[in-house]
Amino acid sequence: MDQNQAKKAAAEAALKYLVPGELLGVGTGSTVNYFIDALAAHKQDIPGAVSSSNASTERLKKIGIPVVELNEAGTLSIYVDGADEADKHLRLVKGGGGALTREKIVAAASRKFICIADESKLVPVLGAFPLPVEVIPMARSYVARELVRLGGNPKLREGFVTDNGGLILDVSGLSIIDPLKMETEIGLLAGVISVGLFAHRGADVLLLGGPNGVREVLPE
Ligand code: 5RP
Repeated sequence: MDQNQAKKAAAEAALKYLVPGELLGVGTGSTVNYFIDALAAHKQDIPGAVSSSNASTERLKKIGIPVVELNEAGTLSIYVDGADEADKHLRLVKGGGGALTREKIVAAASRKFICIADESKLVPVLGAFPLPVEVIPMARSYVARELVRLGGNPKLREGFVTDNGGLILDVSGLSIIDPLKMETEIGLLAGVISVGLFAHRGADVLLLGGPNGVREVLPE
């Protein structure tokens, strides 16, 4: 089983969490794209979805799933999204696709966060994947200096503007021993829109695809 097959298997395993008659939140990325494709066969069961990015909105609409504004939706029963890294406590690094801010908002507004990924995403310590930080453009240099002070090596994601008009700094060199503290610390820097650490609101279930099928991991 290659990585894409593993992502697809994890995505399809998330269908069992659908709550018939209720809206759901939908994340962003290649694993989520498999989930959206699989949703097509279940669209009669759900009234619509709240999307975390323009890319997912387009894909949902293409298969005929109505996209609803979060402000009109209230609390969502489930949110399904991928991750760049997850630890055994289901704290995540996200934002490889640059949609971290809206993903964080929809995750926060959902009762259950189901994370779908291939098994390479489960790591002992977060931080090998460069941590995405979305910033207001005028704060780019200031935030970059502060991230260096915190021990990171920030790099501007060239030619990329988020759905919110923000820029992304990808921060390598961080060994994220205390994800809660780091999420707070980076999140408090002036000009940061959001940080791709999902520790305060991590996932509730992790569905990991691999050669032996899909494994369900709960937070330790
Ligand atoms: C997008 C994300 C994605 O969930 C993350 O990058 C994983 O992507 P993929 O499913 O393509 O591996 O956080 O902002």
